[in-house]
Amino acid sequence: MIELIQVSKTFNSATPQQIAALKPINLNLPAQSFTVVVGSNGSGKSTLLNAIAGSIDVKGMIKIDGQDVTALAEYERSRLVARLFQNPLTGTAADLTVIENFRLAYLRTQSKKPTVGINETFVAQVASKVSMLELGLENKLHQKMGSLSGGQRQALTLVMAVMAPSAILLMDEPTAALDPNAAKILMQSAQQLIEANKLTALMVTHNLKDAYTYGNCIIQMHDGYMIKQLNQTEKHALKPADLYNWFM
Ligand SMILES: Nc1ncnc2c1ncn2[C@@H]1O[C@H](COP(=O)(O)OP(=O)(O)OP(=O)(O)O)[C@@H](O)[C@H]1O
Ligand SMILES: [Mg+2]
Repeated sequence: MIELIQVSKTFNSATPQQIAALKPINLNLPAQSFTVVVGSNGSGKSTLLNAIAGSIDVKGMIKIDGQDVTALAEYERSRLVARLFQNPLTGTAADLTVIENFRLAYLRTQSKKPTVGINETFVAQVASKVSMLELGLENKLHQKMGSLSGGQRQALTLVMAVMAPSAILLMDEPTAALDPNAAKILMQSAQQLIEANKLTALMVTHNLKDAYTYGNCIIQMHDGYMIKQLNQTEKHALKPADLYNWFM
């Protein structure tokens, strides 16, 4: 589903600040896999996700669902790729209501702009999706996004991301700004939504417990290299202590 062939990225090429953030990487992630990406600060995890989303241009080739997307700009890939970031403020507009934010997210994925605005059907659709979070947020659809807590915003952004017809979900430290309880709700919702929508997902996390608990494949980055890649069977055989030992 996601294929990287000799993908590399060097920032500030030919200057004293040159940094090889991604050394040539080959990767083939099957459809509907959920891959967790771990690795120390600066090891290239976010750069890997940015490469797939098209937020940076890279050397090598990136294929999504067999299609070479290397030359496609980020906005052209956004129909294929949904994203969730570390900061709950990223990706939503604080001054708009929850439902208006959903409408914008929906419009972004449509090639022909529908003329119908926010009607009852749309509100009902969103409410039904949001109620799956079991956070009572279906009752807050007409509140300003900025009036909600970070955890609530992050959970809504997740639903927004998966309502789009994208096949891929990229999450970069999605729970880093959340308290333990909100983090758990978000992770459980993510797992459920990934399965229900048959998404192929990649999640960066520093939380090794989450890395162990969620997902069915795991990658470790180090200094721009992908130094470990475990498939479903290998990850299943992993013990929590093994994962901690990777960082020793
Ligand atoms: N836009 C950029 N310009 C210059 N250097 C960059 C840029 N983005 C990333 N880098 C550098 O590339 C390297 C990898 O960065 P990246 O953000 O991918 O790390 P990371 O694994 O996500 O780290 P963290 O866990 O801290 O989020 C770092 O040395 C970083 O400073
Ligand atoms: Mg990062």
